[in-house]
Amino acid sequence: MFFIHCSSLSSSGVMAAIMHRFVALLLLLVPCSGDVPRFEHPIKPDGSLSLLVVGDWGRKGEFNQSLVATEMGRIGEELDIDFVISTGDNFYTNGLTGVDDKNFEESFTDIYTAKSLQKQWYSVLGNHDYRGDALAQLSPVLRSIDSRWICLRSFILNAEFVEFFLIDTSPFVKTYWTDPAGHHYDWRGVAPREVYTSSLLKDLDAALRESTAAWKIVVGHHTLRSVSEHRDTVDLLNPLLPILMANGVDLYVNGHDHCLEHISSNDSPIQYLTSGGGSKAWRGVLFPTSDKLQFFHDGQGFMSLEIRRTAIDIKFYGVLGQVLHKWSVSKELHPAA
Ligand SMILES: *[C@@H]1O[C@H](CO)[C@@H](O)[C@H](O)[C@H]1NC(C)=O
Repeated sequence: MFFIHCSSLSSSGVMAAIMHRFVALLLLLVPCSGDVPRFEHPIKPDGSLSLLVVGDWGRKGEFNQSLVATEMGRIGEELDIDFVISTGDNFYTNGLTGVDDKNFEESFTDIYTAKSLQKQWYSVLGNHDYRGDALAQLSPVLRSIDSRWICLRSFILNAEFVEFFLIDTSPFVKTYWTDPAGHHYDWRGVAPREVYTSSLLKDLDAALRESTAAWKIVVGHHTLRSVSEHRDTVDLLNPLLPILMANGVDLYVNGHDHCLEHISSNDSPIQYLTSGGGSKAWRGVLFPTSDKLQFFHDGQGFMSLEIRRTAIDIKFYGVLGQVLHKWSVSKELHPAA
C-alpha cells in the first residue's frame, strides 16, 4: 500500500518489499543523515488523489468528535479517499501517557471506524501532544495496535505530482519553553530549541528547493494566519513564511484553532487552510487579518483535498457533513516538470 525509503538508501523490488516494515521501524530511531524521512503514496489509476484533513480531535468521541468521524466516513467513501492527514492535537488533554495509554484506542481506533477511514493516517504532533509522552505517539508500538497510525515529527509524503511537507511546529513557540503556564512539555529529542528549529527550517528549505512536484503543500499544527483564538503564530510565521514564499508553496494546512478557515495571502499564491474542527469548538471570537479572509466557520468539521496534476479542489464540511466552502486552484502543466 505504501512504502518508506530514505533517498540515501537504494532499496528496490523484492528487497524493498521485505524491508519496508523493518525500515519503517528503523527510521524512527535512525533518521537518514541530513535527510527528512520520506514516504511514497500511490495516486489512483485515474491520475487523482483525494484525502481528508482533520485536526484537534482526540476526546473519546465527546464534543461531537463522533459526529465528525461519522461524516468523515461518509465523505471519505464518496471521494474514495487515499489517506487522512491529522494536523495534530491528536489526544486531549495532555497527549498520551505512554504507548499503553487506552486513550489511543478510545479516541482513535474506536472512533474512526468507517470503512473509508481504514487508510493510512499521516499525523503530526500538536502542542497538547507535547504535554504527554510525545515519544509514545512517534513509537512504532502504536502501529502494531492500529496499523493506520503514522506519526513523525517532520516528514515528506510524496504522491507522484504532489509533495506534502509535514513539519513539527510546537517547538517554534517560545512561550511553551519560557512561560509554560503550569504545563509540562516533553522536549526530549527537541531541546535546545534554537538548534532544533533552525535545522528543521534548513531541511525544509532544502527539500522544497529540490522538489519537482507540481504542488507543494506544507502541513503543521500551528496557524500561520488565523482569525480565531490563537491568531497568527508569529514565532513560526516570521521564520517560515519567507521559505514558503521563496519555494512556491501552494497551501499551508494547519489545525490548532478549533475551527475551519481559508485565508488567501495578499502577496503570494499561498492559501492558508485551518482544519482544526475535529471535536471541541465554538470559541466565539473573530479577529481581523491583514490577508484576505475567504471563509471562517467557528465550529466543528473537516476538510477534503482532491488533487490532480493541474488542479486542486478544496472543500470544508460542517459537523453534519454539509459542504460549507469550496475553492479550486489550477495550474498550467510545465513541460519540463
Ligand atoms: C454538536 O453539533 C450540534 C449540531 O451542529 C450542535 O448543535 C452542538 O452544539 C454541538 N455540540 C458541541 C458540544 O459542540
